[in-house]
Amino acid sequence: MDDLVQLESVLAAQIEAANDEAAIEAVRVAALGKKGSISEKLKSLGSMSPEERQSQGPAINGLKNRITEALTARKSALKDVAIASRLEKEKVDVSLPVRAAPAERGRIHPISQVVDEITAIFADMGFSIAEGPDIETDYYNFTALNFPEGHPAREMHDTFFFNPDENGERRVLRTHTSPVQIRTMESQKPPIRIVIPGKTYRMDSDATHSPMFHQVEGLVIDKTANVANMKWVLEEFCKAFFEVPSLKMRFRPSYFPFTEPSLEVDIQCDRSGKEVKFGEGTDWMEILGCGMVHPNVLRAGGLDPDEYQGFAWGMGIDRIAMLKYGMPDLRAFFDADVRWLQHYGFRPLDMPTLFGGLSA
Ligand code: DAH
Repeated sequence: MDDLVQLESVLAAQIEAANDEAAIEAVRVAALGKKGSISEKLKSLGSMSPEERQSQGPAINGLKNRITEALTARKSALKDVAIASRLEKEKVDVSLPVRAAPAERGRIHPISQVVDEITAIFADMGFSIAEGPDIETDYYNFTALNFPEGHPAREMHDTFFFNPDENGERRVLRTHTSPVQIRTMESQKPPIRIVIPGKTYRMDSDATHSPMFHQVEGLVIDKTANVANMKWVLEEFCKAFFEVPSLKMRFRPSYFPFTEPSLEVDIQCDRSGKEVKFGEGTDWMEILGCGMVHPNVLRAGGLDPDEYQGFAWGMGIDRIAMLKYGMPDLRAFFDADVRWLQHYGFRPLDMPTLFGGLSA
């Protein structure tokens, strides 16, 4: 009898001391499991005399019931404590503002936005997009574009040259997107109507120049493409891009090795206010170079200049992005400062389209 009283007090103390569910389960198994202390007592009933069994049976079963009850009570108490402490810890302040979803918070870089705007405009006119490598051969960047060997125009580009390879050939970081004109003529039969957005590189760095910058090139080749077509395409582009109903353009004679004649294009603007306005005023701003593709360039692209002709143009993307969106310093484009991007960036789901508005 003493034995049972002692076992009960030990078990009661263990139950009291158990302070989580795993501990209480351990006590249960030690008492009521297959080899538990109470189970062993129950098993010993079989080997007792009938008299002994008569007194021990109810005593052991009583112990078993009381311990089972105590275990259940402790377990539910522990559960309540666990829930209370979780509720305390996982408190949520429902009055806090909701955090914006990633698609709401993310921003499109102004350069990407402007590339999307440009491609939307030219896609609407039936142009496709072409791309080429940033690391070019001297041949594609210069020679095939009718830059004579040793001609100063090569130097004008402030080229980043790689070390010469075993054949003595120097690769370059392309100084313009024009080499993709040649690559396209080599791989595509006319009629060709492409625009080529991409990164370009020159050794130059200040508030309006970055050693890596962006250009977009255009190329149209067929049997009749002419200067009048070119002027129309460029004028339509400028009106759509600057989102104005009309805009005067001025074409000035210029020189590029890959076009003949070559022209530089200014657009009408008004600089009298704080920001430059396009499509009004009496000032001019240069925005692109263009011309009729030089016969030597057509030949380099594998086309017969007696059969095909065309026009091309090239334009700096960074500068027109700065002009359109009033960003004063080009270097901020490449600083990867999220605060700047929050301010000047565009919402990812506002895709530029001609019908929905380019920058709306
Ligand atoms: N590649 C010239 C540059 O980087 C820009 C250019 C001018 C491209 C006239 C053309 C063009 O296609 O016809 O300065």
